[in-house]
Amino acid sequence: MVSMRKTLTTLLVLLVTSSATAQEVARTAPGSHSARRPTATSPLPADLLPYPQLKAGERAPLDLWRYAGRCGSSFGSPELPMSWDRWVAFHRRQKPQLMSDVQRYMAGRFEFHGRAIAGATMSGGRKPVMAGPIARLPAKVESWERLAAMTPEQMRRDDVFPFKPLAHPLHTTAHMVFPDGWVKAHPEHARIDVDHDVPEQYLPEFPPPMFLSTHKELGDVTRGKEVTLANYYGIFDGLLTAEQMEGLKELLRPTPTTWFNHTTHRVTAEPSTGVSCMSCHVNGHTNGAFELAPDSRPNLARLRVDTPTMRGNYQLMQLSSKRSIRSMDHFSEVEEYFDGDPGMMQSIGPRAAQRQVTNRMGDFNAILDFAPAPKLGPLMRLIPSKATDSELRGEAVFHGKGKCVVCHSGPAFVDDYMHDLQVERFYRGRPEGPIKTFPLRGIKDSPPYLHDGRCPTLADAVEFFNLVLELRLTKQEKEDLVAFLLCL
Ligand code: HEC
Ligand code: HEC
Repeated sequence: MVSMRKTLTTLLVLLVTSSATAQEVARTAPGSHSARRPTATSPLPADLLPYPQLKAGERAPLDLWRYAGRCGSSFGSPELPMSWDRWVAFHRRQKPQLMSDVQRYMAGRFEFHGRAIAGATMSGGRKPVMAGPIARLPAKVESWERLAAMTPEQMRRDDVFPFKPLAHPLHTTAHMVFPDGWVKAHPEHARIDVDHDVPEQYLPEFPPPMFLSTHKELGDVTRGKEVTLANYYGIFDGLLTAEQMEGLKELLRPTPTTWFNHTTHRVTAEPSTGVSCMSCHVNGHTNGAFELAPDSRPNLARLRVDTPTMRGNYQLMQLSSKRSIRSMDHFSEVEEYFDGDPGMMQSIGPRAAQRQVTNRMGDFNAILDFAPAPKLGPLMRLIPSKATDSELRGEAVFHGKGKCVVCHSGPAFVDDYMHDLQVERFYRGRPEGPIKTFPLRGIKDSPPYLHDGRCPTLADAVEFFNLVLELRLTKQEKEDLVAFLLCL
């Protein structure tokens, strides 16, 4: 406990100094662009701070939930804030300290002990499912049940809410950050400026299995391999229609993005051919790469978003956590991953996929199925003879006291609405607004949870909803709920 308190204090000091440093750097950093001052805007609520004026590459505070407001411009620049040589040297200096601070920050928020749930593996059968909750309780709160007995106002006043938003570790440049396991297999995606901040054990299995709704009898069609541009033809010829084949190829074809490209506006040591859709949605699932949602400005206000699975997208009426895109072909069309900034395309080039091609990408996406759930019957209820007592009790909590079914219902356990969970009731911070409900079918395969991954395990997600919905579930009810979620 003492050492934990110490870590937290160090952390606090660190956060304060790191944001001070960031502002210091902003004032003194070399570069051709002087940060434009924001124009007058309505005053911020008293407990929020204005965003610091920072240039691309400079460290930002990790407690970004405390900041709000606007920046100088909606548009980015394809120019680096300094010469390429200085950019590389700057990051070579900054990255080791940044990553050691970020790891300390993450270790202060979560206890990544690496213990698994006995007997539980992800659908490929190769990776254990991690036990939780691993979010750290503040030193002054003895147990999760004691925390849940507090009102939202008390938690806010005492600053004890363990599930505050997660920031991108380098918010000013942001963009895609790939997990270590992926980078080992794809060294071309290693960044000079920042690395992933969640341990591999808490990310989806790699490569994940792929299930097709058109070939349920075959199980994992990849047989444990990562599907690539080089091997997809051999794996899928004779299984797909010509349209789906073409769509899959496009999902695998790399194209330049905001920071992975052939120009010097990049974060890779060598010029890059870019990324493909399946660089994040590997095998139609997810490898746990994160990005920032492209739908708000300034950059520091954009939410960190963890890559969702593409499995079962055919069931969803809204795609992406905030933008509510309504079709998979539309998604393929807009998803240029230029961080939603058309101005950048002038120098980097658009993906330029034609409508007929994005329709075919949507066609392939539409047959990516969830993993089998052998304990569920056609009405998506547990088959009693196949389920344990704990799983059956968990199902009863899900439909009863837990109220989960209010938003997680139907064949994919999703209501296809966006909900404002008003999480800012529990901490002093900028409201995140409505977020789409994510499906719970196949949920054990896609940690970490919530749009930004702030709940590393299913048990953390259950504690999150226990607090946010003020359910006051018992320890047993929460354990049963996790047992049930593993069956979906
Ligand atoms: C950073 C790696 C990355 C790449 C590359 C990527 N995605 Fe995504 N994808 C994400 C993230 C992160 C989200 C969540 C976005 C949000 O919540 O706004 C997402 C969301 C989606 C969704 C909505 C899923 C849901 O449950 O709401 C679809 C569909 C999708 N991507 C398709 C694509 C396609 C098609 C491409 C290629 C054109 C692509 N993605 C490239 C990371 C990636
Ligand atoms: C009011 C609607 C609502 C209720 C009730 C609700 N959820 Fe959710 N659920 C959501 C929303 C919205 C999200 C996405 C939130 C985010 O990403 O910030 C979500 C996300 C999740 C996730 C993470 C999904 C992922 O892919 O990361 C899990 C797990 C989850 N809910 C479980 C539960 C459980 C268990 C219960 C009942 C105790 C429950 N939910 C009750 C709306 C709801």
